[in-house]
Amino acid sequence: MKNSYALITGATSGIGLEISKDLAKRGFNLILVARTTEKLVQTSNDLSQEFNIKCDYFSSDLTLIDSPDEIYQFTSQKKYDVEILVNNAGYALPNAFHKNTMEDEEKCLRVLGTSVIALTKKYINDMISNGGGKIMIVSSVAAFAPASSLQSLYGPVKTFMNRFSESLSFYNKYGITSTAVCPGYTVTNFHTASGVQAEMDSVPSFLKKSAKRIAEEGVEAMMRGMKVYVPTKTWKIIVFLLKVIPHSVFRLVSRLLAPGRYDDI
Ligand SMILES: NC(=O)c1ccc[n+]([C@@H]2O[C@H](COP(=O)([O-])OP(=O)(O)OC[C@H]3O[C@@H](n4cnc5c(N)ncnc54)[C@H](OP(=O)(O)O)[C@@H]3O)[C@@H](O)[C@H]2O)c1
Repeated sequence: MKNSYALITGATSGIGLEISKDLAKRGFNLILVARTTEKLVQTSNDLSQEFNIKCDYFSSDLTLIDSPDEIYQFTSQKKYDVEILVNNAGYALPNAFHKNTMEDEEKCLRVLGTSVIALTKKYINDMISNGGGKIMIVSSVAAFAPASSLQSLYGPVKTFMNRFSESLSFYNKYGITSTAVCPGYTVTNFHTASGVQAEMDSVPSFLKKSAKRIAEEGVEAMMRGMKVYVPTKTWKIIVFLLKVIPHSVFRLVSRLLAPGRYDDI
């Protein structure tokens, strides 16, 4: 009998927590991954009781190079078939590029980039053998935005993740789809964890969306096998404008509406 699960990284807070709830509501068993064990235990208990599903967890720090291997070993030992892989965990560095150490940059790039590639590499082979699977990468509207003075590598790594996700469409013939979900400003713990809550507080409320809405639209897009998906009408329009208006105009408007991202260093 198949022992199918959805594995979600960063499943204890914000967008990852809401994705986990949405998948549980759809009847999927879950494997939750994050660093903080107490939150994993609590979330796992809550979701298994509320949605009557099987829910397990694995505490792992994705800044560490061995983390994807350890996660894979855990699910292999438990004989869980990972049918859905949601690469969601993430944070950004708060300072200007020259103030962050190379170690800080490498750790952040591991969580947002190389761990996503490593986990996908592990599970895609099983998905091929099992005749299909679904992958989601939680990317960002930053993937489409002009280069910013704040969080210099965040936008570039999200662009990289979008291109990586699109390249996985060559696995469609094996029944595998990959969806890059690109939210705009979302109310979560992200900005506090990334040291930019003051910038988030100054963003007008019409630009801030709930994690629940992002998750619901994102999971639906993944189920439909869409390659790149921007949740909410507001952010679809902004991404369209990003493609047609000069970036200098975008930066000017952005400076007025959400100061910080394009300020001089
Ligand atoms: N919020 C936004 O405005 C926004 C916009 C666009 C894209 N995104 C993207 O959405 C994704 C989720 O962010 P969020 O807004 O939901 O943030 P969040 O509320 O801060 O949640 C982050 C989750 O990731 C886990 N995590 C953080 N560092 C980790 C590490 N080193 N190893 C393993 N797990 C780790 C956290 O748990 P522990 O701390 O216990 O590890 C938590 O479960 C990120 O990829 C982010 O780039 C966010």
